[in-house]
Amino acid sequence: MQCPLFFLLLGPLYTVLQAQEISVNDQKTGIIGQVIDLPCTIGSNDPNIHVSQIMWEKGGTSIAVFSPQHGTHISDPTTFQLINPSQSSATLRISSVRANNEGEYSCEVTLFPSGNRKATTKLAVIAVPQNSAEANTEATANGEEQTVATCRSSNGRPPSLITWQTSLPGNVTTIMTNNTDGTYTVVSRYVMTPTSQADGMPITCNINHESTMVPIPLMLSVKYPPEVTVEGFDDNWHLKRNGVYLTCSAKGNPPPTSYKWKTVDGSPLPSTVRVQENILFVDEVDERVNRSFLCEVTNELGSRAYRQDVLVREKPNNSGAGATGGIIGGIIAAIVGIAVVATVILICRQQKKNETAKDDEEFEGPPAYKPPPPSLKLQIEKPAEEVPLKAVLPPSETTDSQDMELNGKTPPKYQMTPESQRYSDFQNDYLEQENPIYNEFHPPENASPRDEQGFMMSPAVYV
Ligand SMILES: *[C@@H]1O[C@H](CO)[C@@H](O)[C@H](O)[C@H]1NC(C)=O
Ligand SMILES: *[C@@H]1O[C@H](CO)[C@@H](O)[C@H](O)[C@H]1NC(C)=O
Ligand SMILES: *[C@@H]1O[C@H](CO)[C@@H](O)[C@H](O)[C@H]1NC(C)=O
Repeated sequence: MQCPLFFLLLGPLYTVLQAQEISVNDQKTGIIGQVIDLPCTIGSNDPNIHVSQIMWEKGGTSIAVFSPQHGTHISDPTTFQLINPSQSSATLRISSVRANNEGEYSCEVTLFPSGNRKATTKLAVIAVPQNSAEANTEATANGEEQTVATCRSSNGRPPSLITWQTSLPGNVTTIMTNNTDGTYTVVSRYVMTPTSQADGMPITCNINHESTMVPIPLMLSVKYPPEVTVEGFDDNWHLKRNGVYLTCSAKGNPPPTSYKWKTVDGSPLPSTVRVQENILFVDEVDERVNRSFLCEVTNELGSRAYRQDVLVREKPNNSGAGATGGIIGGIIAAIVGIAVVATVILICRQQKKNETAKDDEEFEGPPAYKPPPPSLKLQIEKPAEEVPLKAVLPPSETTDSQDMELNGKTPPKYQMTPESQRYSDFQNDYLEQENPIYNEFHPPENASPRDEQGFMMSPAVYV
């Protein structure tokens, strides 16, 4: 076992001695702006051989020459130096590596009397890039294709390779710039037609350079006008019913700034309702709330509204209550039935005990009744079905910067900058679309099944 290992270790050393004389690195990698040394050593153990000259050359051109008799000559001393040259070594130093230093360097040694020997080092020059990535906080869900994220790898050599990782469909455009110092700047953009669903979604830019991968995770920011919903109408608003209210919820980017309750026909809100921010309170239901209401929500991009049709009934809607009563009645009947059966059994046993007083064991064993809890678990899971209405807001720093930008940009009211004109146009567009949108997304038929469903669930509370 030991012998092969011994020769294995000795192997490389032996070849150096055999080739004798010159050893250099096969490959070296220099980093732009940093120092790199290319060693060349002469190992001659033959006292009859003398080194008369060592020369470094690149592409057939002499860079540096050392002769024990005549000293050192360097063609471009600001770039190249020889470090402590002697008969046994001449290390070529490049004190500040540049891209054009890349190439093959040969150390050529003139021996007397045996002649020339040569060994070559391949120098690669790299530069570590500066990497950055950012989401475009001005991306807007306006139906147009736009850059949602940009990833930049600057002054790298060789050029970085940029890839994107996301679940959102889109296209990538990449531009490479050849810098004068031999480095490359690569800029990659993720282009898509963003929707409100893309707001807050993760996207990762992966920058590959020299077999290292730098991932930069980002969160998309997509501006969109408010998305509004109204809750609280249970289709059982009857005359004289007290304390009902409609809650208007909206998400948007930037966050909505105002909630406004209106009537669909534009008439003033009836005096029987009270508005408190996003909530419309009705202390006592009467004919005046028998109408359709709008909750209009506004953010920087415009206004959107949700239409809630309210139908006031003369009397409470008893169909649901009847069902509830039936269920409760059934449960009570069942409980009474069980109680009767249990009582009968107990009485029978009591009599049995009285008759055969010996049989104590049967009595000491507790009645094998264990309430099965699994139904509890099912009930706990139910609330999870409710989708949170609150918007998933972009990270606070993004929001902050948007707010700051908004503040900085908001022009005085009398001055119409192109920017505000654009938003204003945009807002008008949305306002114009309002009516078709209500009709498309909030047909009155949609409201009642959902509300009935909500109502039908109430018996479950009693069970
Ligand atoms: C990607 O670009 C092609 C060609 O420009 C376009 O047809 C396609 O819709 C784009 N895909 C996405 C997801 O934007
Ligand atoms: C930039 O460098 C790359 C790689 O070296 C080369 O293929 C390309 O032609 C260069 N482009 C320009 C405009 O010089
Ligand atoms: C509410 O209006 C509907 C028609 O829009 C009508 O059928 C109903 O009777 C009204 N309710 C009351 C209490 O007046």
